[in-house]
Amino acid sequence: MKSSITQGVRILATGSAVPDWCISNKILSDLIDTSDEWIFTRTGIKERRIALGDTSLIQMASLAAMQALRQASISPVEIDLIILATSSPNDLFGSASQLQAEIGANKAVAFDITAACSGFVIAIVTATQFIQNGSYRNVLVVGADVLSKWIDWSDRRTCVLFGDGAGAILLQACSSIQNNILGFQLDTNGEKFDHLNIHYNGNKDKADFLSAKSNGNYGYITMNGKEVYKFAVSKVPDSIMKCLASLNLSIEEVNWLLLHQANKRILHAVADRLNIPKYKLISNLAKYGNTSAASIPLALDEAINEGKIKQGDLFVVSGFGAGLTWGTVILKWIC
Ligand code: UT7
Repeated sequence: MKSSITQGVRILATGSAVPDWCISNKILSDLIDTSDEWIFTRTGIKERRIALGDTSLIQMASLAAMQALRQASISPVEIDLIILATSSPNDLFGSASQLQAEIGANKAVAFDITAACSGFVIAIVTATQFIQNGSYRNVLVVGADVLSKWIDWSDRRTCVLFGDGAGAILLQACSSIQNNILGFQLDTNGEKFDHLNIHYNGNKDKADFLSAKSNGNYGYITMNGKEVYKFAVSKVPDSIMKCLASLNLSIEEVNWLLLHQANKRILHAVADRLNIPKYKLISNLAKYGNTSAASIPLALDEAINEGKIKQGDLFVVSGFGAGLTWGTVILKWIC
């Protein structure tokens, strides 16, 4: 989709935060019928961080956001808009306003985006529209999830996959020559929503309508792993190719492929389909598992801190997951 661009978008800084508590595959295999060997060979995951006790979504999101703000020497009161990508808010009405209050971004508008593992890509694209059309100057985008709270810890098909975390990126309006966010491609297929979801169990009993206990509740994460795998390895390469073609860019020009950190086999299969060598893949999946909306900014922040990224590098960033939703955004690293 084309947008009318009056100004560019610059990436100023990134930040990230994970809970302290680390659960290795070994610990999980002491609790349920699984093994380090099964988990690692099927997913590439070795351990994950889990938010316990006092560690909340808002705390992690705030830590990640404050890191980015400090790095860019921007005060929270200078932020115009906060977009929090999360599918595990601590308030069903949204958590972005709590993040706004926590970091003291008094002048910022704040709202959530719920799009599971595509959430961060969709949030970046949304932020970009507000900046490019001249509405806002400084925008904070945070991807944060605590899916550990929505897992059935006795279901070995899902509980080994997910972890908790948060990542942030600070965007600012700039001249169109300095623009860092080159283009995007977003897609949705709602017909397959039930391949990966957290279902709402509503009250079916009319007689109970007015009872306090009649409001229903949400279930646990359920997933058809094989279908999600097939969806990801077929749709994500198409999305990337479409996005590159719309910008007249070739695969050879891509320096880094940063995919939602779901599964090492998915990452490798997508890279293979695109003929992108593995050394261009950014991955920290082994340490954190699938952190949903946090996975891309967490991996981006880590790659930057490791000094991997050079001025002018071209990033292909893709998210995919529940909805089903998937999307790509192409970034040029100019700081
Ligand atoms: O953000 C998107 C999130 N979703 C994903 O990324 C999921 C994508 N899908 C996948 O990554 C893979 O489908 C999984 C890693 C989830 C599963 O791998 P698979 O090769 O599709 O395994 P499977 O579901 O076909 O299960 C194979 C066997 C089964 O045993 P039987 O029926 O063959 O006896 C499972 O019961 O592995 C068994 N199994 C396990 N064994 C040990 C399933 N989970 C486990 C486990 N430990 N944790």
